[in-house]
Amino acid sequence: MCGIVGYIGNRNATEFLLEGLRRLEYRGYDSAGIATLDDNTEFHITKAVGRIQNLADRLEETPAEGHIGIGHTRWATHGPPTEENAHPHAGGDDDIVIVHNGVIENYSSIRQRLIEEGFVFKSATDSEVVAHLIVSCLRKLDIDSFETATRDNLITAVKRAIAKLRGTYGLVILFKSHPDLMLAARLGSPLVVGVGKNEHFVASDASPLVGYTDRIVYLADHQIAVITANDLNVAHRDQGHIKHDIQVLDIDSNMVSLDDEYEHYMLKEIFEQPNSLRDAMRGRLSVDDATAMFGGLNLSPQQLRQVNRVILTACGTSWHAGLVGEYLIEEFARLPVEVEYASELRYRNPPVDNNTILFSITQSGETADTLAAQREMKRKGHATLALCNVVGSTIAQEADGGIYLHAGPEIGVASTKAYTSQVCVLTMLALYFGRIRNMSFGAGQRIIKALQEVPDKVQEALETNDAVKRVAEKYADCDNFLYLGRQYNFPTALEGALKLKEISYIHAEGYPAAEMKHGPIALVDDHTPSVFIMPHGNVYDKVMANLEEIKARGGPVIAIAGQGDNAVTELADDVIHIPVVEEFLQPIVSIIPLQLLAYHIALHRGCDVDKPRNLAKSVTVE
Ligand code: AGP
Repeated sequence: MCGIVGYIGNRNATEFLLEGLRRLEYRGYDSAGIATLDDNTEFHITKAVGRIQNLADRLEETPAEGHIGIGHTRWATHGPPTEENAHPHAGGDDDIVIVHNGVIENYSSIRQRLIEEGFVFKSATDSEVVAHLIVSCLRKLDIDSFETATRDNLITAVKRAIAKLRGTYGLVILFKSHPDLMLAARLGSPLVVGVGKNEHFVASDASPLVGYTDRIVYLADHQIAVITANDLNVAHRDQGHIKHDIQVLDIDSNMVSLDDEYEHYMLKEIFEQPNSLRDAMRGRLSVDDATAMFGGLNLSPQQLRQVNRVILTACGTSWHAGLVGEYLIEEFARLPVEVEYASELRYRNPPVDNNTILFSITQSGETADTLAAQREMKRKGHATLALCNVVGSTIAQEADGGIYLHAGPEIGVASTKAYTSQVCVLTMLALYFGRIRNMSFGAGQRIIKALQEVPDKVQEALETNDAVKRVAEKYADCDNFLYLGRQYNFPTALEGALKLKEISYIHAEGYPAAEMKHGPIALVDDHTPSVFIMPHGNVYDKVMANLEEIKARGGPVIAIAGQGDNAVTELADDVIHIPVVEEFLQPIVSIIPLQLLAYHIALHRGCDVDKPRNLAKSVTVE
């Protein structure tokens, strides 16, 4: 939530800051702002409510000069989306400016103390206290003014200030008196530093850096970066200097930009799925051993063989992937699996025996609840592994090991390709657990063969796009949708409903198809479509019976069915035919038309598909 950028070097800072904020806009989009420091050491602070374009328009009218600057795009937590509450926030007599991601839990008591010290607040945010607190800490060092403060004084003031904060922060700070210095600090909210030639970049994730530098440093919690155009020094808040690793960023600019082919990131990412699935599987399937291989689990097969229970924890779409994982791991490996909402698990105290392993499933690797659940399980001594898309993210860093999804950057707020990659990785994980336990060589090979065909099947499923669009236009005015499926297709029903509600604002609910009789059927009328996910499989006839029950009550039915299924064509109002795959792979294929359905309905209703209201891409607050 919220995005941060910073620049120091020889370029016009505003250009990088604006471009960076555009790339981060998916993280928050209710207001934005930048501050630059010009050659006369004057701050130029420009803010605008709404999208980055509004900020760009302001900067067009009144350009902000300077070769050093910071910027922020906001997802409001404390205080409404107004200009006053937009970042950057100034501290003291405009001596410093800061941008902040995260939540300062004790801001109210700090604010009260600072008011007593004479500081005047201009915003309702928790972030502004950080700006004034740094000034207050500097004054307490008996420094007359910022002008006489040394660089070490400023660093000490920042360290003392952040030591007083409770909560999370990613902070970037500029000082009017020191136009050659930028400080960055993190605790629980990601920050990366891009290393260029005589220039440095800072951002809350790597996407703004793409095209500027591929050399990046991931800051860890409690670290402070002291940044000039030519130098980067990283220190631990309490333990002093740290030797930092420079890593190579493996993202190219096509991955984070929209070309003419796609109007929205969501559509681009839906159509990227054949490739993202290939990337998820690349180098991870061994036909010779009939199993999957993962480089980063950091646990031996012997250790994993001792596992007698698996907990999958996640939020939102990633939790739905976990539900598919439950079916897969139980079926392939006969291991008991529980899928827990991370927000519940973190505060529960379930009895968990020694041989239980936790997998956190997360696209961003920054979701606050998932991180907290992982920390809690780790604290109790359990092995924690992460299935994560964003390399170097906090959850990936803190887990004992894990598996990257390799889906590439996912910019659309509604998760699509990360979901299918999560399910694909969980299928390989289930295969792996199966093969170190009871699964035969032949069964392993059959699963691998079927998995390898999945990208092509997804490509075929994408060809339903025109048919789905027609269905979308027919039902776009409905206010309620039901999504129904059984077994492997039950999580797909949940995920299809979530996709629709998050981007079109239509009320949609997913249920196991048979549960519908226990209440939801009361909602059925001629204006409430039921979307049945019913490719052929063990429970096909049962789902067909559920479909008839809906039809008997006058409810319109949209069926997602296997190619060649003519029986359903006679009953359902609309049928989308998808390629036939093994039942355990249906979740990856049957979600494709549901992603497209949500997309086209949202488009038809004039919704902002990539930036749905109230949402943000990574939910870094509780
Ligand atoms: C997905 O479309 C949603 N935007 C949301 O449910 C998301 O999946 C959830 O917030 C979890 O995010 P994560 O995978 O980054 O942890």
